[in-house]
Amino acid sequence: MAKSEVDIVNEGESFSQRGPSEVDRRRWLIACGATGGVAAAGVGIPFAVSMAPSEKARSAGAPVEVDIAAIPPGGLKTVEWRGKPVWIVRRTPEMLQSLDGLDSKLADPQSNRKEIPTPDYAKNSHRSIKPEIWVGVGICSHLGCSPISKFPQGKNSDMGNDWPGGFLCPCHGSTFDIAGRVYANKPAPDNLEVPRHMYVSETKVVIGKDQKGEA
Ligand code: FES
Repeated sequence: MAKSEVDIVNEGESFSQRGPSEVDRRRWLIACGATGGVAAAGVGIPFAVSMAPSEKARSAGAPVEVDIAAIPPGGLKTVEWRGKPVWIVRRTPEMLQSLDGLDSKLADPQSNRKEIPTPDYAKNSHRSIKPEIWVGVGICSHLGCSPISKFPQGKNSDMGNDWPGGFLCPCHGSTFDIAGRVYANKPAPDNLEVPRHMYVSETKVVIGKDQKGEA
């Protein structure tokens, strides 16, 4: 049975800024220790120790039901599922348009790689069930750092005039588009994971479960 929503983090705030799980914390320390900032922000309190019993149960793997009604266009909401940050992004028409014409720059534009399998319902141009809503796990496929959102496009961004908006992994510089597809010739080999999920109403999505059952 799906649990209720567990957490909200403001747009642009990475999961590591509020405290990763102990497992993720170790991964981030290994991955990011040399570069400091991102991992260091999450090392103050071991996250697993600070969780209430119900949160531990959720972290262990139960599906998480999320109310997405309040996510504004261009906004991102983070919830925890199995100790991982899961992002829900409400994409604007401009953000969706940014996906066009990127394929030649991406490592796996069709999400065909098997290392991090993409559910069939997300094997499309927007990598999602509803085009405007993208659900993805915010853990880099290189060494497990948490990327940060870089949604402003072009000259409005700090990523260069041709940046279409997406995510940047601050540990070793991998970049991802607004559907979590990794750019080619970057350290990260795979796209960001799209977890199994399903809508139970217009405004509620369950993470960790789909029509085939629980992940
Ligand atoms: S952990 Fe190395 S690029 Fe993300």
